[in-house]
Amino acid sequence: MSPTNKTPSRMTVPSFRSRKGQGTLLVVLTAYDASTALAAEEAGVDCLLVGDSLGMVVLGYDTTLKVTMDEMLHHARAVGRVRRRALLVADMPWLSFHLGAEDAVRNAARFVREAGADAVKIEGGRRRLPVVRAILDAEIPVMGHLGLTPQSVLRFGGYKVQGRETAEADALVEDARALADAGVFSIVLEGIPAGLAERVTAEVGVPTIGIGAGRQCDGQVLVIHDLLGMLPGPVPKFVRRYANLHESEVEAIRRWADDVRKRTYPSDAETYS
Ligand code: KIV
Repeated sequence: MSPTNKTPSRMTVPSFRSRKGQGTLLVVLTAYDASTALAAEEAGVDCLLVGDSLGMVVLGYDTTLKVTMDEMLHHARAVGRVRRRALLVADMPWLSFHLGAEDAVRNAARFVREAGADAVKIEGGRRRLPVVRAILDAEIPVMGHLGLTPQSVLRFGGYKVQGRETAEADALVEDARALADAGVFSIVLEGIPAGLAERVTAEVGVPTIGIGAGRQCDGQVLVIHDLLGMLPGPVPKFVRRYANLHESEVEAIRRWADDVRKRTYPSDAETYS
């Protein structure tokens, strides 16, 4: 079998990176299972991100700090099995890259080998450079992630917009420059003022992907559960809901339960004779 990529229009790390400044914004969406990945592919997203938001929107944890490598891999494999065209990026969960470069490379490689990931995402700036460099040295592309990084929730004291003060904003720009110089192919900017995201986007030569970071990034990412309204309760200000699947789901289950209780389900047509 030829090692060449047989899917002609498959998004690769270089093709994703080369979209910087080309006018067409990059569309990144989280996916944690095969059915979501199939829908996102059919809708034409550029990149599927198996985010560690998995922990909060699928597994019911209160923070992403509780997500393990095994849980991430379980879901990344499901997405990897059906992915055809979109770039597949897997999020390195908390503690999978904090215990040393060797451990981080081993964990990153599991996403590539076991799930078919094209790249991994790592939260943090200059503090994470040694680990980012080690993973890049192992030939695994890295997407950076700066701003309101959810794995830093304890240090931040909550989910608060970052980079509002001048010193913080300057530090974030330095982090972005350092990551880009180290060789990351893209940087997610989360929960920062639009002006700061615009500044970073102008400063670095790799695509910035915004979430709660305004319109001036090179692309946008959303958590699929937010976009589709799959969970009850309020959502952050930056979320635009394109459906209310939670309500539809409750309504459909309620109707089925009523039919069962009224003995109108199953009908003769739904029954084997
Ligand atoms: O875990 C995640 O879903 C993310 C995105 C919100 C960028 O990191």
